[in-house]
Amino acid sequence: MKLPHSLSTRREFIVTAAGALATASVSNVFAQGAGKIRVAVIGTGGRGCDLVRKLSTIESAEIVAVSDDYEPHLRNGARYAGKQAKTFSDYRKMLEQIKPAVVVVAVPLWLHYQVCCDALDSGADVFCEKTMTHSIEEGRKLAAKVRGSKQVFQVGLQRRANPIYNQARAMIETGMLGRITAARCQWHRNNNWRRPVPVERTHAKWNELEKRLNWRLYRKFSQGLMAELGSHQMDVINWMFDAAPSRVMATGGVDYWRDGREVADNVFCIYEYTLKPTHGEESRDPYTVRVTYSSLCNNAYEGASELIMGTRGTLFLTDKKGLLFLEKGADDVGWVKKDASGTNASIVTSGKTLGLTNDPWAFRGKPVEIDNEGGDDTREELVSFLHHVRDRDLQTICDVNIGLRNAATILIANEAIDARKTVEFPRDLRS
Ligand SMILES: NC(=O)c1ccc[n+]([C@@H]2O[C@H](COP(=O)([O-])OP(=O)(O)OC[C@H]3O[C@@H](n4cnc5c(N)ncnc54)[C@H](O)[C@@H]3O)[C@@H](O)[C@H]2O)c1
Repeated sequence: MKLPHSLSTRREFIVTAAGALATASVSNVFAQGAGKIRVAVIGTGGRGCDLVRKLSTIESAEIVAVSDDYEPHLRNGARYAGKQAKTFSDYRKMLEQIKPAVVVVAVPLWLHYQVCCDALDSGADVFCEKTMTHSIEEGRKLAAKVRGSKQVFQVGLQRRANPIYNQARAMIETGMLGRITAARCQWHRNNNWRRPVPVERTHAKWNELEKRLNWRLYRKFSQGLMAELGSHQMDVINWMFDAAPSRVMATGGVDYWRDGREVADNVFCIYEYTLKPTHGEESRDPYTVRVTYSSLCNNAYEGASELIMGTRGTLFLTDKKGLLFLEKGADDVGWVKKDASGTNASIVTSGKTLGLTNDPWAFRGKPVEIDNEGGDDTREELVSFLHHVRDRDLQTICDVNIGLRNAATILIANEAIDARKTVEFPRDLRS
């Protein structure tokens, strides 16, 4: 298993100027004489500012510029980035004038493709927030562009940098769960996603501002809950299963927040995966595993977690804590009794199943805990990405192929919801 650099060393790296100059192909990666990687951030809204704050704690990074075409957000970004960072309302001018070595893209989903392409064309390595693209077609084109370059590219699915999920992957790989037979995941929240618009409803710019701030609620700009939340969890499933789904059935709608939004406020999906037995099983025949995913905006009881079930154990995963429950084995329901001659004879009692409990707690026992309290997977993913930039190692922890598979996984669910039919995962993206 390949661990993110940051997880294998648990330390940040510091690049010396001499080391940088010795590697001709990476010479423009580093700020002159400072030994730092010159980073620019495009889109300094909620997530972009988070990323700026994390980057400002990473010694190897120098934030040389931030760009946002909405003044209040640009101001926030500048405040977190520090005085050395130049500000631009036009990101293309920034690319041209600053020529950053690394561009972090945190604009709304519908702009990911164009901004990533422009950043790649400027020669920069690119970190793009999830979901990689708004459509599968854009994803294919972006993947082809990245594969045809020597540029480092990473998608911001930060669980890939989280020690809990890396531990879980190792547990599954070594067979601790036995045969994987099912998975269940959800991201349930109780909030409406709508952001307030800072001008009166009658203001000429209200409409434009509302769309800008609430882009998540409109299909032209957003792919709704599946892209904003489901992408994280379906990435975990693709990763843990080392596979893409075969197909998906899904349903969803605007059933609670009827406020003019176009994206569903609740979605329910059933994915099918075809997996190969790997752990000492006699049969080598591929078999089907089903995964349910749901996302809500009106009840937060279950929060966000993934449950991966196997014949020997169950993994309950969140970004702060993981739990491994080992199975006790099949229930003895008392149906099989020895007869007088000592051979087995089946006795099925009518109306009552003996010794079988439906108590959900009875099967769990004391779990093995995997802890990441105090961990910060967003910072870890950036540290890992910058290591790859320094090393010119194109196989990042979430490269363009993983990003494309992830985007296609969530986009076929939206297609299934719209078409009210089962949708197949594109064959050419399965392996
Ligand atoms: N990995 C995670 O956990 C995580 C969390 C939140 C958001 N995200 C992702 O980050 C991205 C941004 O989400 P957000 O919540 O920060 O949205 P946001 O609306 O808060 O921020 C987006 C910013 O992009 C700016 N922008 C729009 N067009 C631009 C342009 N042409 N040039 C420069 N800036 C432009 C907007 O003005 C805004 O400030 C989305 O893709 C989202 O899915 C990821």
